[in-house]
Amino acid sequence: MTSLIEVNNLTKVFGTHPHKALPLIEQDISNREIQKRTDQITALRNVSFNVNRGEILVVMGLSGSGKSTLIRCLNRLIKPTAGQILIEGTDIIPMKNSEVRQLRRDKFGMVFQHFALFPHKTVIENAAFGLEIRGLDAESRKKQALEALELVGLSDRENAYPAELSGGMQQRVGLARALAQDPEILLMDEAFSALDPLNRREMQDELLSLQKSVHKTIVFITHDLDEAITLGDRIVIIEAGKVIQSGVPEEILTNPSTRYVERFVEHFDVSKVLTAKSAMRRPRAVAYLNQGPRVALRKMDTADISKIFILDDSHRLAGFVTAEDAAGAIKKKEVSLSNIVQKTFVAVTEETPLQDLIEKSLKSQAAIAVIDEENYLKGMITKSHLLAALANVEEGACQS
Ligand SMILES: Nc1ncnc2c1ncn2[C@@H]1O[C@H](COP(=O)(O)OP(=O)(O)O)[C@@H](O)[C@H]1O
Ligand SMILES: [Mg+2]
Repeated sequence: MTSLIEVNNLTKVFGTHPHKALPLIEQDISNREIQKRTDQITALRNVSFNVNRGEILVVMGLSGSGKSTLIRCLNRLIKPTAGQILIEGTDIIPMKNSEVRQLRRDKFGMVFQHFALFPHKTVIENAAFGLEIRGLDAESRKKQALEALELVGLSDRENAYPAELSGGMQQRVGLARALAQDPEILLMDEAFSALDPLNRREMQDELLSLQKSVHKTIVFITHDLDEAITLGDRIVIIEAGKVIQSGVPEEILTNPSTRYVERFVEHFDVSKVLTAKSAMRRPRAVAYLNQGPRVALRKMDTADISKIFILDDSHRLAGFVTAEDAAGAIKKKEVSLSNIVQKTFVAVTEETPLQDLIEKSLKSQAAIAVIDEENYLKGMITKSHLLAALANVEEGACQS
């Protein structure tokens, strides 16, 4: 994947003499101290990240951490103090105002937390608003606005007024207005934060299914980890204007890098998002079908286990054998494991959520086998592995 947006050492200081703050930022002096010494407000400090074409990048942080400032720098609603913002390799910071206006029109759509709809315009007039500014004729404006309303499931309400719609529907109009311009990049600043939880979840799902057909590059801002995990291909976490961690959701949940990130993760139900892959271990030993019960029992003894997974000739998983059955087979002088191999076992893939494993694990006699589509054994999860994996994350989140 190629980066559509590349942000390098982006810094924004508000105030009358922003450059006074720059050397202090380099000395790693706190925002508060910088304000005390220079009377300038530092909002972003050497922020670097990139956004790949077609991905949803979530920027997460608490209120006041600099999220809105950041997203407004991306389309130059705010002029950064220092750094680079490359869009397809071109730095937009030195651009003249006329170029900036053009860029904003051509590349960006923006959706805000407060829907910012015109109360006296109808749904379709609101959705068409950006197109008017672009100078499209009435016919094409209507066509594009209707298409966008269809995308968000509102084409039957084109003549309604905002006040007649629920919050969720109003935000759909906001989204339609941005989509109507068919921008390459969608900037969404806490777009769903004003909605009640049910509507919010619904909008998240809709955005994801919409994204499958429109393939926009989306920068989505939120202060909510659940939302970040649901929507983000990758997540960038900022605190007091600094990037403190970035990565795919699984990384952030598994390895919260600081107490600040841990605090987000603490209240999150990890079992929904973490998968079998994060809990599985390599089996301490495996035996093969064509090996005898003595070999199997010896392997179990050495590895200090009472059940062992059995692979067939092609190294695919065939089942498991218990130490008891192996001992019985030795007494009966059997030379192969085929009579005692148990073929009913629970198998999952690496992508199975931990949450689904809890019930399976309780039902299963042996460890859960983690296999791929071709039945190769990738790992195993015992009840204690599973509980440890769930507890680890919780524990990790509680340490400071
Ligand atoms: N126009 C402005 N003038 C002065 N300070 C500002 C301005 N906009 C934002 N700030 C300050 O910058 C910091 C980051 O604000 P903001 O980007 O709005 O955070 P967030 O969106 O994460 O809540 C805050 O301390 C805020 O007070
Ligand atoms: Mg904000």
